[in-house]
Amino acid sequence: MKKQKVVKKPKVKEVKVEKTVAEPVKKVMATPQALRGMKDILPAEQPFWLFVADKARALAKAYSFEKIETPVLEEAGLFIRSVGKETDIVEKEMYVFEDLDGAKIALRPEATASIVRAYLNHGMWNLPQPVRLWYQGPMFRHERPQSGRYRQFFQLGFEILGDTNPVADALLILMASNLYKELGINTSIQLNSIGCPTCREVYKTELVNHYKAHRSKVCESCKKRMQRNPLRLLDCKEEQCQTVKKDIPQILDFLCDPCRKHFMSVLEYLEELGIPYFLNNTLVRGLDYYNRTVFEIYSVGDDGAAQSALGGGGRYDYLAETLGGRATPACGFALGLERTASKVKEINPALAEKKKIDIFIAQLGDLARRKAMVLFENFRKAGVKVAEDFCRTGLRAQLEIADKLGARYTLIVGQKELQDGTVIIRDMESGVQEIIDFNKAVADLQKKLFLNAS
Ligand code: HAM
Repeated sequence: MKKQKVVKKPKVKEVKVEKTVAEPVKKVMATPQALRGMKDILPAEQPFWLFVADKARALAKAYSFEKIETPVLEEAGLFIRSVGKETDIVEKEMYVFEDLDGAKIALRPEATASIVRAYLNHGMWNLPQPVRLWYQGPMFRHERPQSGRYRQFFQLGFEILGDTNPVADALLILMASNLYKELGINTSIQLNSIGCPTCREVYKTELVNHYKAHRSKVCESCKKRMQRNPLRLLDCKEEQCQTVKKDIPQILDFLCDPCRKHFMSVLEYLEELGIPYFLNNTLVRGLDYYNRTVFEIYSVGDDGAAQSALGGGGRYDYLAETLGGRATPACGFALGLERTASKVKEINPALAEKKKIDIFIAQLGDLARRKAMVLFENFRKAGVKVAEDFCRTGLRAQLEIADKLGARYTLIVGQKELQDGTVIIRDMESGVQEIIDFNKAVADLQKKLFLNAS
């Protein structure tokens, strides 16, 4: 028999482990912040935004505009072709990136181009014309952020597609004017006509000739604009260019007959409707798709100041063709929600005050809370203005909230009431309490509220 090899266990050396108390490692991690120029719209701001959106929605309905939503992402080419290669928006401000398929994508800097794309893509020319559409949503421009200028901002806009009639231009200006009136904002409307591609060409030549004669006095950007995009000369805010700009030829003097007639007709509508306006011969707007009527709306006092236009728009009769579609005369208008809501807040801060409620439901203990939740639902379904704070436990804290909310009555469901099938009603003005049947609470309170109101 073979002798089995005995494997000796190796001697394990005892290692003395020093007991140490582990120090908690404090990792300081920076909390991500919102991107520069992009902001959270917090609950405190919402009443002002909602006020604007509600008024705009009601106007859209009154003037038969239908809602449309288009994607936030589009082919970059859509904006390059429509807004224009030589504009600040496309040249400097557009968020453009390559997506995973290698396509060149842009975060929309505005929505008019998307609306026209959608009109063409969905054959909306087959619908009775004109097609009236409205929209609301975020736009993106990589501008230098400052008060009233953000990199993500919201617009609310109206477009009338398929109509060349000046009444469409006037209708949009009327709507803008009405909207701001209803928001309580005193506005001034600035108006101009930039003609059609034919008469505008003549004007551009005249304008460039004027600048050529004063070339040495204008800024470097204007020198470039003279060659690349002369109408942008009128946008220049540089101090040194103002004397040259003051004596520019007047664009209205260069309008061809049809463009002049169109513009005069817009003015006649506005006069008939009693809408005051200011003719501004340097208003050309920062997007290349416009022709004929262009306008901007300012809060009185902010007129013309940078970053202060509440909204703007105009006619864009050639945009659909530029995008490869059939000729579709159109015009539109968009307002900036940040700027508008902030004006509303300035004028009417009381909008943020919470609306008073009729009934507050308080509860004491887990079981009572369940019943209180049922009671809350019964009141809510009956259309009573009711509130609760079921996450709180103490009665005093709940009564304080009821008081803050301006509740007329607080209903208290406690352990005893639970057993008795009752509920306590507390009159929040007098402090008097009474007990009523749980099942009759809604009917009893509705009666009380009715008597109080009459
Ligand atoms: P827009 O003038 O470029 O026109 O913009 C309209 C409004 O959006 C401005 O008057 C302003 O209130 C707001 N807005 C523009 N940029 C910013 C920003 N960076 N931060 C905050 N608010 C801003 C358009 O976009 C055209 N699509 C309007 C239009 C519609 N034309 C015909 N139909």
